[in-house]
Amino acid sequence: MLFGFIIVKIVNNYMTSEFNIPLSESLRNPSPEIVVLSNASEVDKKAFDILSRVISEKPNAVLTLATGSSPLGLYKLMIDARLDLKNVITRNLDEYWPLSKENPQSYSRFMKDNLFDHVNIPEENRNIPDCETADPEAEVARYQAVLKRTGPSDLTILGIGPGLTCHIAFNERGSDENSRTRLVKIDPDTVKANARFFDGDENRVPQMAITQGIADILESRKIILIAKGFSKAEGIKRTLEGTIGPDAPASFLRNHPDVTFILDKEAASLLGTNIDRFIRSLLQENDSLMCAGNCRNSISEIDKQVKNKFPGINTKILAYPDARTGMGVHYSLLIVSKEKNTIVNPVSAPGFPEYVGEESSAPPMFSQMRPVSEVI
Ligand code: F6R
Repeated sequence: MLFGFIIVKIVNNYMTSEFNIPLSESLRNPSPEIVVLSNASEVDKKAFDILSRVISEKPNAVLTLATGSSPLGLYKLMIDARLDLKNVITRNLDEYWPLSKENPQSYSRFMKDNLFDHVNIPEENRNIPDCETADPEAEVARYQAVLKRTGPSDLTILGIGPGLTCHIAFNERGSDENSRTRLVKIDPDTVKANARFFDGDENRVPQMAITQGIADILESRKIILIAKGFSKAEGIKRTLEGTIGPDAPASFLRNHPDVTFILDKEAASLLGTNIDRFIRSLLQENDSLMCAGNCRNSISEIDKQVKNKFPGINTKILAYPDARTGMGVHYSLLIVSKEKNTIVNPVSAPGFPEYVGEESSAPPMFSQMRPVSEVI
């Protein structure tokens, strides 16, 4: 808890007093706003702030909604806040096909259980593709007409698919930027990931779905994408740092003028071109944790916290001076555990050394890294 607080405090310091460059700025590539928060509940709160602002400005807002674990916390906050949603119109992104509506895994049931049964959105204002239809092509045409009649969305809430699928809604790899609502085959990697909701049995996961297309999603006035956890890190990196194209459908969001990626630090952990190289090189070394940066008191405080949190793991604190002032500056803070093979807590920032490796072969910036005690 305290540990999380310190990290947030460092990020806040970074964002305000010392540099005046928001952390998100360093990750901007090229246009989306990227907000990295310390934990999943902060992510939910941020998404809720955006949603409640949209609704207070426009009580009859049109919302495009996702299912799955990503928006669950947001839906809970909407329920708890007793927002007045009586004039809101919703259009869900997608639905399995074919599946019984009563199947607990159908998205229509998910929406009832996790939102609709607990808020005052009138039934006639809720739209979701029909998973029971015998004629999916007719259902696609009906849903396209629903989208047209209800007009562009004021806010679209997205999650991102597992691994490197980078899907949004059920727009799997290969989806075109101009794609519209249609019947699609679900990517085998998604089927595998979603089997966890079907008693681990891939054969029970429907192979098809009706989904809004990328073009439908991009018509929204505002979009937020919520991603939490390490399992989303690779996909987020591919989406934000790879080329924009159909092999990573979420990357098309970078063409939208008002999209915010709301990430917890795990989902953001591979972002930053140098960070992952650095982490990989660290993972080849001993089991150790490393904090790099300055923040003087905070860094030693973090060291204390790390030692408490991971007893038995060595920690090492390094600081490197700011080129401008010659004093330590928290360009970056990384804590890496080989034992757990995970990045425990990375915070990336601009100015990170281009190369990290043997000190003797490193450029000046890295070779200037010294134990923090020598710097402060
Ligand atoms: C669901 C949807 C999907 C999910 C994605 C992430 O309506 O559109 O694209 O957002 O598969 O799922 P979770 O949030 O369960 O990780």
